[in-house]
Amino acid sequence: MPHTSALDIETLLSADARARRKTDTDEGGASTPDIRISLSSGQPDPHSMPVEDLATAMQTVLENDRSALLYGARDGYAPLRQVVADKTNSMETLRITADDVIITTGAAQAIGLAAQAFLDRGAPMLIDEASWGTLVFRAFGPHSIPVRWDEDGPIIADIERAVDRLPDGERMRLFYTIPNFQNPMGTTTTLERRRQVLDLARRHRFLILEDDAYFELRFAGESLPSYYELDKARSHVIRTGTFSKILGAGVRLGWAIAPAEIREAMMLYKFDLGSNPFMSRVVATYMQEHLEGHVEELREVYHGRRDAMLAALEEGLGGIATWSRPEGGFFIWVKLPDGVDSGELERATMARGVDIWPGKAFRMDEHEDGYVRLAYSLEKSEQIAAGVAIFSEVVRELCYQRE
Ligand SMILES: Cc1ncc(COP(=O)(O)O)c(C=O)c1O
Repeated sequence: MPHTSALDIETLLSADARARRKTDTDEGGASTPDIRISLSSGQPDPHSMPVEDLATAMQTVLENDRSALLYGARDGYAPLRQVVADKTNSMETLRITADDVIITTGAAQAIGLAAQAFLDRGAPMLIDEASWGTLVFRAFGPHSIPVRWDEDGPIIADIERAVDRLPDGERMRLFYTIPNFQNPMGTTTTLERRRQVLDLARRHRFLILEDDAYFELRFAGESLPSYYELDKARSHVIRTGTFSKILGAGVRLGWAIAPAEIREAMMLYKFDLGSNPFMSRVVATYMQEHLEGHVEELREVYHGRRDAMLAALEEGLGGIATWSRPEGGFFIWVKLPDGVDSGELERATMARGVDIWPGKAFRMDEHEDGYVRLAYSLEKSEQIAAGVAIFSEVVRELCYQRE
C-alpha cells in the first residue's frame, strides 16, 4: 500500500494564488439565519424572464443544430455577435459589425480578460470610488486609485490628480467605470462628464473600460451616448454588456465591444473553447423574434419596484437618511445617519431575516463608509416594502442607541 500524506495545498499554490489568498478576505462569522427578504442580491427577477419563449428557442436549436453541442469559436458564435452588433446599432448611432464583438461568459469574463491583458500586479488603474468591479479587480492586485463621484459622475479633479501623481515612467492603464445606474451608487454619468473623462483618457493615453451591464434597463430620464459612442476615433474604449440582466444571469453570456488591437490582446487570455455555444444559439434564436417587447416589460417591473423601495424609504427613514434615485438598473445607495456602522447594521438586519450589502464591500480598501446598497431587483414590491420597513427600524434603533 503506498503511503499517502496530507497534500498541504499551501505549499502547492502558485505565488500569485498565495498573494490572492491574503487579500481575499471573507468575514464569515456566525451562522447565517434564514433570509426571508433579500435586498442584497443583484440577481434579476427569475419570474420576469421569458421562460416559454426560451424553451421554444431551445427546442428549435436542439432539433436543428447539433453543432450547438460541440465546442465553439473562441470569440463567440458568429450569429450572436451579429445580434449584439444589431442591437447596439439600433439603440445608439453606431455602425459596429459582428467583428467588433467578442462573446464572453458573462460581462464578468470580459472585464477579467481586459484586466489580464492590461494590468500587472501593482499597475495603476482608476476605479469608481465604490464599485461592483472590486469583486473582479481584487483578484488582479493592481494599484487601484478610487475616483470619487458627485451627482454628475466621476470627479474630474480626482482623475487629474491621480495621473499627475504617478511616479516617472508609470502610465495609468485604465479607468473601469459603470456609467449608467452605477452599481452600487445608482447614479448616472452626465453627457458633459462623459466627454470630460474621455478627453482626459485621450490626453493621458489610458483606456476606459465601460461596464454597461444595465444599459437596457433605463425606465426614466433620457438615454445617453456611451463612452464607446462618444469616442469617434474608436481607440480608447472597451464596452462590456450582458444578457444576465435581461435574459437571466444563469444564461452566462455577455460581450465586449472594442477596437481590433484591444480585442486581440483580450483574446490572448480566452481559453474556454467558446463561451456557452449551446445557449449562444438559444439566445440568438430567441432574439430574432423577441427582446424589445420583453425588455419593455422588464423596465416596467423594475420601475415599479424602484418606486416601492423609494416610497418605503421615505416612510421609514425620511429626514433621517438620504439615498440615490436611480433612473434604471437595480440599486439604491443609502447614506446612513452619522455614526451608524454598516457592518453592525448588516448583522442586525440579517438577524431579522433581511439581508443588505454594506457599502464597504464595494471599496477596494474596504473602509467603513456609512453607506449600504439596497437591491430592488429580486423581491416583489410587497416584500420590498416589508424588508425596507425592517431595515429602517434597525437603522432607527442603532441611532437611538448612539444617543
Ligand atoms: C455592474 C456589473 N457588471 C457586471 C456584472 C456581471 O455580469 P455578468 O453576469 O454578465 O457576468 C454585474 C452583475 O451583477 C454588474 O452589476
